[in-house]
Amino acid sequence: MHNLEKIYRNKKVLVTGHTGFKGSWLILWLHQLGADIIGYSLEPPTKPNLFESLNLQSKITHIIGNVIDQKHLDSIVHQYQPEFVFHLAAQSIVRYSYKVPKLTMETNIMGTVNLLEALRKTESVKACLIITSDKCYENKEWIYSYREVDTLGGNDPYSCSKACAELITASYRKSFFNKADYESSHSAALSSVRAGNIIGGGDWAEDRIIPDCVKALSMGMPIIIRNPSAIRPWLYILDPIYGYLLLGAKMIANSIDYCSAWNFGPQINSKATVEDLVNLVIKYWGNGSYKIDSSPQPLEAGLLQLDSTKAGTFLGWKSLIGIDEAIKRTIEWYRHYYSSKEKLYEKTVNEIHEYLSQIN
Ligand SMILES: NC(=O)c1ccc[n+]([C@@H]2O[C@H](COP(=O)([O-])OP(=O)(O)OC[C@H]3O[C@@H](n4cnc5c(N)ncnc54)[C@H](O)[C@@H]3O)[C@@H](O)[C@H]2O)c1
Repeated sequence: MHNLEKIYRNKKVLVTGHTGFKGSWLILWLHQLGADIIGYSLEPPTKPNLFESLNLQSKITHIIGNVIDQKHLDSIVHQYQPEFVFHLAAQSIVRYSYKVPKLTMETNIMGTVNLLEALRKTESVKACLIITSDKCYENKEWIYSYREVDTLGGNDPYSCSKACAELITASYRKSFFNKADYESSHSAALSSVRAGNIIGGGDWAEDRIIPDCVKALSMGMPIIIRNPSAIRPWLYILDPIYGYLLLGAKMIANSIDYCSAWNFGPQINSKATVEDLVNLVIKYWGNGSYKIDSSPQPLEAGLLQLDSTKAGTFLGWKSLIGIDEAIKRTIEWYRHYYSSKEKLYEKTVNEIHEYLSQIN
């Protein structure tokens, strides 16, 4: 049995945002580990989506709920008494946050506060991970990678909301879930995690580069790219999900020592621009073209890199899948989806097992 299985088997795990791209991969993996999963989210944010494509609702306790609804959230935490919580629910799109800044702030900031308030009312939760973003740092457009100690910030509403979620998590940790009071007034370990831009099969969100590419290519249209020279900490989906599960496991085993903020980013030599990424997509798709849209765009970070030294040193985590392999696997997944969909569940699950065998 893999170490993660020993930790998660038969454990009650609450995942918010389970109908989204990353949430679906997380619950798929948790299901493989034998966890008893409770998902709390709005409906899947896109059509199609990974959650329904893999029929994941049949594997979990699936609850449609809004993180803004404190009463409902409290009642679910009270009813199911989870031991682990992974909080992913969010308005997750930078460009959309310019259209709906208030909704983004409410969901990402007050949603996090509500989740933490629900935690204060239960004794069942032993480890809680708040998923924020690489965009939570004050972006200085410099060549250095951001470390967990760097200044938080955010120009656009999404980035700002994630920086706020970080500050709120740190405040709740100091005020209500602190080291000094562990096992006297509380027994919860609380961390936040900041991962890079995630690539993988099953994402159909608007204004994300891989879904934009796949939608265009599947219709025989040119891909439109807006920020060709932008560099992001691209990460294959299994890398951060493994990081979250590993951190959750460490938090349960060694409780309070792992309660802090954690970066999960690509290896230092893995740098790629949006244009590099699109060229790889076209290579693995087998054909296609792209056009650069040079009209004025809302402000987005141009150069953003994460330093994962802390996760490497204390968790033994590192990204295992480089950018070329990440795009290859992702495009293979979509190719399969758009051709036959046959054994899509098995194909997706196999990826997790292969990844686990790489770790062992
Ligand atoms: N995908 C990335 O590249 C990336 C990078 C860094 C951080 N993140 C963060 O990771 C998390 C998951 O991202 P994703 O890519 O799966 O996003 P996604 O948009 O695919 O999914 C978002 C999920 O949140 C749920 N949700 C939205 N508003 C809600 C509300 N008010 N109440 C309850 N549920 C609500 C949706 O139903 C969905 O399940 C988010 O917090 C996101 O900000 C994502």
